[in-house]
Amino acid sequence: MANDSENLLKKVIAHAKEYGFIFPSSEIYDGLSAVYDYGQNGVELKNNIKEYWWKFMTQLHDNIVGIDAAIFMHPTTWKASGHVDAFNDPMIDNKDSKKRYRADVLVEDAIAKMEEKIEKEVEKAAKRFGESFDKTMFAQTNPRVLEYQKKIDEANERLKNAMNSSDMAAMKQLIVDLEINDPISGTKNWTDVRQFNLMFSTEMGSVAEDANKIYLRPETAQGIFVNFLNVQKTGRMKLPFGIAQIGKAFRNEIVARQFIFRMREFEQMEMQFFIKPGTEMEWYESWKNKRMKWHQALGLGSTNYRFHDHLNLAHYANAACDIQFNFPMGFKELEGIHSRTDFDLKSHEKYSGKKLQYFDTETQQSYVPFVVETSVGLDRMFLSILSNSYKEEKLPSAEGEEGNERVVLSIPPALAPYKIAVLPLVKKDGLAEKGLEVFHQLKTDFRCYYEDKDTIGRRYRRMDAIGTPYCITIDHQTLQDNTVTIRERDSMKQERIAIEKVGEKIQRLVSIHELLKKV
Ligand code: GAP
Repeated sequence: MANDSENLLKKVIAHAKEYGFIFPSSEIYDGLSAVYDYGQNGVELKNNIKEYWWKFMTQLHDNIVGIDAAIFMHPTTWKASGHVDAFNDPMIDNKDSKKRYRADVLVEDAIAKMEEKIEKEVEKAAKRFGESFDKTMFAQTNPRVLEYQKKIDEANERLKNAMNSSDMAAMKQLIVDLEINDPISGTKNWTDVRQFNLMFSTEMGSVAEDANKIYLRPETAQGIFVNFLNVQKTGRMKLPFGIAQIGKAFRNEIVARQFIFRMREFEQMEMQFFIKPGTEMEWYESWKNKRMKWHQALGLGSTNYRFHDHLNLAHYANAACDIQFNFPMGFKELEGIHSRTDFDLKSHEKYSGKKLQYFDTETQQSYVPFVVETSVGLDRMFLSILSNSYKEEKLPSAEGEEGNERVVLSIPPALAPYKIAVLPLVKKDGLAEKGLEVFHQLKTDFRCYYEDKDTIGRRYRRMDAIGTPYCITIDHQTLQDNTVTIRERDSMKQERIAIEKVGEKIQRLVSIHELLKKV
């Protein structure tokens, strides 16, 4: 991670803690690695992201319904899903730094470095040749670029083969051949690569002899698969249809160092779309586009998103890609879109002995549907919004503003924890009473904040820091003509408006429904 990005992430983490968005879990005991608590502002932002996703999925798609399945599931579920046997990450330790790494990530990082080298060669040549530069021709003929590309292709192929055949010796050899150094110690003193299952297990049952080993779910999707027929029959659903769910998932991640990007307890927003076999590629493309539009509607910048096709497909998929976001540590996975075939339902049929089939009234045939899945991490959504909206700004001198710089979170207004702050200019002269009257009037429609202590400038700063899009100031003129000023967070522009018009004006600007219309 480059220094600037590292600094940005550090600042976001500190800001998130200082302003009640995210705290380390059980902090008084020095925290718990890769586990975090959402504070008073964090939980509001998180709930708003959930609402945006839930309404898009279930309200805007009349063929998608939601469920809320339990975290604990019958242990055979995880045998059938393949997680007991195949939900492993290859891990490796450096004997000098004593640090643990995911072996596949070390290789991917080494490949990314070679890709960067190609980019640099291209940039240099583009400068040298100016207008006449032909990038494709250069990439196909420049000996240095060709050599890097050959190494990249070979490394990708060897990584794919090692992962697919769970050949940990081949993975170790790849790390040796790529001459990968430990980023901490700088040495190549590696242990062998071992497989590590990511599922947490515990025991259910009060008496030790009766206890059954069960797992904390590593994905919410299986709760949907095992309920496929329950929902299809009770909801009289016709193919194609989807089942959506938001809930906690747990993974004993080997390396969990990037704040809420990779956690051991996290939340997923997943949707399984059940379809007729043979139509999966059409639906896969359709969901890729829909999900990208949903992200883009937030206005965090269209160039901050990109698709990334999977080279190493999971055991259940015949096509898969990520929507990556430009996080402070670079482009990384935000959401996964997977064509999961009929793997899960067929496997549950086999292990449970129950039919999980759909009777198609058009063809008069029963079959196991195929599935296209969309799966986005709620915490990663949170980090994408928080890191993108964190801004340090120099201020022009303006009336009521405090100091010459500010930290502002330009969170999309529909997702901001508070929509409105009601701030009497001063506490005396009846302004506080008037302010409270306005606050009580608005709070049934919006999440509002009221504050009458401190200078108005400092109060604006505090609202900027938690991303409140509108501040309503009550001043002496308010008492005479029932007007207030509305200050907009990003531009800091102020406008005078009649109190009775405030609700209507702000509703349009902060409503999730307006955001949904943009998708
Ligand atoms: N049901 C499919 C599935 O679980 P995945 O790609 O392993 O697929 C889906 O996970 C999404 O869940 C990821 O795109 C990411 O946003 C989120 N996610 C996965 N592991 C995570 C972790 N350890 N911490 C936070 N989010 C995670």
